[in-house]
Parts: sequence; C-alpha cells; structure tokens
Amino acid sequence: MKKMTLPALRDKKGKDPIAMVTCYDAAFARLAEAAGIETLLVGDSLGMVIKGEGSTLGVSVDEVAYHVRAVRRGAPAPFLIADMPFGSYQASVAQGVDNAVTLMKAGAEAVKVEGGVAVAPLVERLTAVGIPVVGHVGLTPQSVNLFGGYRKRGVTKREHDEILRGAIALDKAGAALIVLEMVPAELAARITTEVSAPTIGIGAGPDTDGQVLVLYDLLGMDGAFNPSFLKKYLDLDTQVTAALARYRDEVRTGRFPARRNKS
Ligand code: KIV
Repeated sequence: MKKMTLPALRDKKGKDPIAMVTCYDAAFARLAEAAGIETLLVGDSLGMVIKGEGSTLGVSVDEVAYHVRAVRRGAPAPFLIADMPFGSYQASVAQGVDNAVTLMKAGAEAVKVEGGVAVAPLVERLTAVGIPVVGHVGLTPQSVNLFGGYRKRGVTKREHDEILRGAIALDKAGAALIVLEMVPAELAARITTEVSAPTIGIGAGPDTDGQVLVLYDLLGMDGAFNPSFLKKYLDLDTQVTAALARYRDEVRTGRFPARRNKS
C-alpha cells in the first residue's frame, strides 16, 4: 500500500469515499493495511473494547501513546490518527498542545478532539504549529455524563443547530477531517456540503465523505452489541469462542498436541 498522506486524503472529498477503522495493536494494524484501509484511528474507545471499562473517560495519554506505537509498527502506510483522551485538552490550549505533541512523537500523524465551537481555538493553534486535527461532533462519548447516555444527537432543533455551528467552526479553524457520530443523515449531508474538510460518518447515514467503525464492532466480537447503524462483517464472538472451546477439548482429551505438533 502506498503511504497515505493528509493532502491525498483531503483530495478524496466528494470523489472517493474514505474507509477508516479504529485499531489498537500491531497485529490488526498489519491486516488493516493489507486490506487497503487508508486511515486508522487509535480511538479512546480502547477504554471500552480493550480495557473493558464502561466509558472512554478513564483513558490516559500514555495509554493512547502505547497503542499508537504498536499500530504504527504494524502498519506504516495508513494515515494514523490518535484520539486525545478525556482530560488531555479540556483545561487549556497549552495543555492540549503539550499532549498532542506527546501523541505525535509516538507516531500519530494527526490528533482527534471532541467538541465544536469550544475546541475551535485549540484546533486553530494545533494546526498553526503543524499538528493536523480531526474534529468530532454529534455523539461525543467524552460528554456522556452531560448527554445522559449514548444516544443519537441533533434530533432537536437546538442540538441540530449546535452541531452544525460546531462543524463549521471546526472547519474554519482548519480541521483536517471531521467525524460526525450518531446524527441524522440529513444533518450529516448538510454539514458535508457546507465544510471543506472531508466528513467521516459513524451512524450518520451514507452522505458523508467516508465512514469509520470500531474494529471489534465490525468484526462482531460482541454478539450482544447490535446497534442499527452497525454492519458486522464477521461473527468473531461465535467463531473465536468455538475455536477456544475446541482447543480446550483437544487439550483435555489429548488430541492436541498430535505427534506432528512438536518442536
Ligand atoms: O474512539 C473512537 O473509537 C472514536 C470513533 C468511534 C470515531 O472516536
């Protein structure tokens, strides 16, 4: 796979849909690169899918940096985005710049921040000092306590207008890409036509410039997680459980190792 750069990604807007997945380790990064996925996101979703926590709030900058290094080693070619975790940019622009620098030194090529108008000054500052920023509006999981749950956003007029204003503010501030999570398809389509940055949707309908999914969700790692926006491309929950049960049985019955499974 040819090295993916930000200008090449931005050039795809309105022409060539962008495929992004989250990724947390070198093994899956290698497979994503082999599949031709052009953009990888080390999402703070790692708090939920890797650490097993109930939200993304407990993730630290050091944890994201650790996963960025692993993903970068596994896949040098895709454009690599690192999430700025909760608490790493909310206090001030200076705090955000310091932590973004840490993630760029770990191997990221851009950082992602959640929020609209409130984070526009940070987006502007990071862009000015050479750090591309991916914006994220709609359902922003770091604000789950404000929203009262992981529900669709932008349904009321107030939310709709706030999200639209936020996306436009991020675009004006120089955002490289903008993630639109769990917003009505018509709002995502409108934002996509009004901003110059490519939009990447998750639960935002088909009219964005690209799509992102959490890797473990699209691979079907959790049979009980079935939101309507998700398409599962595998059923790893069933397949991995069956493989591990078979291994357990073969060890117990002495069928593994066979004579040929020796060093
Ligand atoms: O953390 C994450 O995985 C994300 C994506 C769902 C966009 O922010």
